[in-house]
Order: sequence, then C-alpha cells, then structure tokens
Amino acid sequence: MGKNKGEFGSRFGFIMAAIGSAVGLGNIWRFSYVAYENGGGAFLIPYFVALLVIGIPLLILEIGFGLRQRGSAALSYARLNRKWEWLGWWAPIVSFVLMTYYTVIIGWTLNYVVYSFGQSWGSDPDAFFYGKHLGLTSGIWDIGNIQLGVLIAVFLVWAINFIIIYKGVQSGVEKASKIFMPLLFVLMALVTLRGITLPGAMIGVNKFLTPDFSKLADARVWLAAFGQIFFSLSLGFGVMITYASYLPKKSDVVNNAFITGLGNSAFSFMVGLGVFGVLGYMAHSTGLPIENVVTQSIGLAFVAFPQAINLMPGFNTLFSLIFFGALAIAGLSSSISLVEAVVSNMMDKFNMERNKAVFVVCGIGFLGSLIFTTGAGLYFLDLIDHFNMQFGAALVGILECAAIAWVFKASKLRQWMNPISDFGVGRWWDSIVRYVIPFLLGYSVLSSAITELAEPYGGYPLSAQIMGWLIAVMLILIGKAIGSMNWSDQQLLCQEVE
Ligand code: ALA
Repeated sequence: MGKNKGEFGSRFGFIMAAIGSAVGLGNIWRFSYVAYENGGGAFLIPYFVALLVIGIPLLILEIGFGLRQRGSAALSYARLNRKWEWLGWWAPIVSFVLMTYYTVIIGWTLNYVVYSFGQSWGSDPDAFFYGKHLGLTSGIWDIGNIQLGVLIAVFLVWAINFIIIYKGVQSGVEKASKIFMPLLFVLMALVTLRGITLPGAMIGVNKFLTPDFSKLADARVWLAAFGQIFFSLSLGFGVMITYASYLPKKSDVVNNAFITGLGNSAFSFMVGLGVFGVLGYMAHSTGLPIENVVTQSIGLAFVAFPQAINLMPGFNTLFSLIFFGALAIAGLSSSISLVEAVVSNMMDKFNMERNKAVFVVCGIGFLGSLIFTTGAGLYFLDLIDHFNMQFGAALVGILECAAIAWVFKASKLRQWMNPISDFGVGRWWDSIVRYVIPFLLGYSVLSSAITELAEPYGGYPLSAQIMGWLIAVMLILIGKAIGSMNWSDQQLLCQEVE
C-alpha cells in the first residue's frame, strides 16, 4: 500500500461505495432515454445480456485484480509487469477527463435545486435551459462567456469532492457513501412513486416496457446496451480496482460483484418506471403523443422534467427539489470514485501524501472544467464525451482483458478468489473474460470507428473533430509517458502480493 491509503471499515461500506460509483447520472437520465430509443421493453433483453456477459464478469475481474494486487490501477498493473503500467494510467486519465464535465452536469443539478424554488425556468424550460442557464452560443468555436451560476456550482462540486476524498477512505469515501446511497434510494423511490401514480402515467410506463422486438436485429441496439452497462458500472476507469484494493485481504469478490451489478440495474429499472410515468403524465396533460414529449439525453432531465413539474397538480417545488437533489447525490457519489481512482494512482507512484494529491487532482480538474462553463460548454461536453467514452473506456476494457485474463491468467485469478468468495465462478468465467468480452468490445469499437469515419460525429466542423481525435490519442500518450517514469518508492513495486 502507498502512503496513508486506508481500508474500508466494513463490507457494507465497500458495497455502498461500489454501488455509489455505479449509480450515477447515467442511471437516471441516460438509462431512460437509451432504453426508450432502443426499443423500450426489448432493450431490456440486450441490457440484461450485457449485464450478465460483460458487466458482472468484468466487475469480478476488476475487483479480483485490485484485491489481489493491493494497489491503485497503476500499481496493480505495474506489479503485474512494468510494461502494462501505462494501462493503469490510461484508465484513470479517461476517468479524469470524464470528471471535468461530469462535475459540470452535477453543477447544473445544483443550479436546478435552487431554480426549483418558484420554478425559475418559467413557462418555457427549453429556452431557459439553453438560453439563460447555459448561454449557449452559435457553435463550438464561439466560446461566449463563462456562466457565473454554473461556475459557482462547479466550484462547489469540486470542493465537495475535495473535502470527502481529503478525509480518506473510511472517514471520507465510505462515510459519504453510507449516507448518500440510502438517501438516494429513498429520494428516487419517492420520485418513482409520484411518477407512476400521476394520471396518464401508464402511457409512459407502457412505452418503457412494451417490447419492440424488431429492434433486437439491430446491432446498434446491442452496442447501446454494452455502452450503457460499461458506463453505468464505472468499468474501465480504474475505480473498481482502486476500491477493491482498500478491502481487507481476504474479502469476497464474486458476490460483491453480483450485488453491485444487480443493485445498479435494479436501481436503473426503478428510475426508468418513474421517469416514464412522468413522461406519460405529460403526454396525458398536453394531449401530445409520448414521442413528442421524450427529449434526448440532457434535455430529458433539464427540459422535459421542468416542463412536467410545471404541469403537476401539487407539490411541484417539493418534487423538483427531490428530483434534482437526487440527481446531485447520484452524481456526487460517482464523482468521488472517479477522483479517488486518480488520487490513489498519484499517491502510489509519486509517494504523495493524500492531501497533496487531492489538491493537485481537484485543482487541475476544476481548471479543466472551466471550458464547460462557457457558452460553448455544451458543445465541448458533447464532443469530448463522445471521443472519451466511445473509444477510451471500451479500449481500456479490451486491454484489461488482455493484461489480466491473458498475461496474469484468468484461471489463476479465479483459483485465487474462489476460496475467499461467498461462492465461486466456474471455468465459464475464464472463457468470457478471455474471448467473449474482448470480441464484443472489439466489435463495438470497430463499428463505432467505421461509423465515425463515414459520418463524423454530431456535425461539428473538421477542426473540432480533429481536436476530438487529438485528445483521444493524447490521453494514451500521457498514460504511456507517466507509466514509463520511475517510481518514487521503488520498493512498493516489489512488495509481496498474496
Ligand atoms: N457510473 C457512473 C454513472 O452511471 C459514472 O453515472
């Protein structure tokens, strides 16, 4: 273990932190609209297949590896072989880049908590969100001004992350997760209950649950399911490796992975019912078909929900406070895991004290977030997220199968973790992590790359596309460069792992 790296005080604490990392903004708005766009009820089939074939087996791989190697992602890979250390940097760098804009979305949810009082978005939430709130400009290179309200909220989000992570594993991450997660569950259960009991809710719920089986033949639906599971379980970010390294030596791996994976999806499913209940209510009260009230991605939370809140028969402010408060909590519990993965790497590699590492990571992170607080922020967010997530995280996933399942050997990890787990996995798991996952993720990356080349993403100018590609490549090079630097504490690498 590196400097001052604590341990989780209890298994419950670890599970809350792991689920806290998984359950995030992705479960609340992303899951609902991805499910809707990809065939409603039929999407649940590829989604659960992705959970069982990619999600849980990779969670087992990451948790098992972190527990076995007892270090941050960088240290865990460096202990395997110094040649693989760069992968242990690339993953948290992808996670760090994600953090620079993830914190901005959490910032918006805090802004919307404030707007909830008196519903400041008025009668046109669409114009309010893109105009007054974001100050959206005409295009990506028309930077516009920094939006003061957003800036303050983003600073607050980084400050909360700073304080929690500064306090360490047990008094910071674990304690916060033990408060955040039960609270989040109660808040979202209230949103769901309200959502499904509104008049017309069933129009939405039916849309969410009625399968459109023709969609199952569409490869894009399957890719969307893989992407959702990957992002939602915080895979490929170095998070689960880091968190598992804070568990006592002989902890369960397999059951913890199942609890985290199933808990995360159950939460998404519950939220999906609530969100579609609210959309059904909107369709019912406006007389419009549901297709017209479902907006894409960001618009779902920040435009469609305020519209629905305006129409509600009562408790509008309370409902709004609960919804945006829950979004903020879900975002924060994920963000602390993403930051901790980077902090942990810095502490190990550079022999840094926790307080210094947290200061550096949160300080640079906040500066990185500034671009997303400008009038062109949403364009940058959309473009950078696309390049970071579409290629970065999935490629990390393939490489981690290569490093852990092939170089370290899946069978060796399985034989090591089965006896300490509540129940074990069979040889099927070796085949999944050695062949099936690299094949499926490889297919996803390849088909995304082909689509990308045929039709550049989002209609951005060529200069912006080049910037996206440059950022994606630069992240690998930065990983490579840091990975090849010498360790401050060379001995850390050689310590016995059991
Ligand atoms: N797993 C996190 C989310 O779903 C990153 O938002």
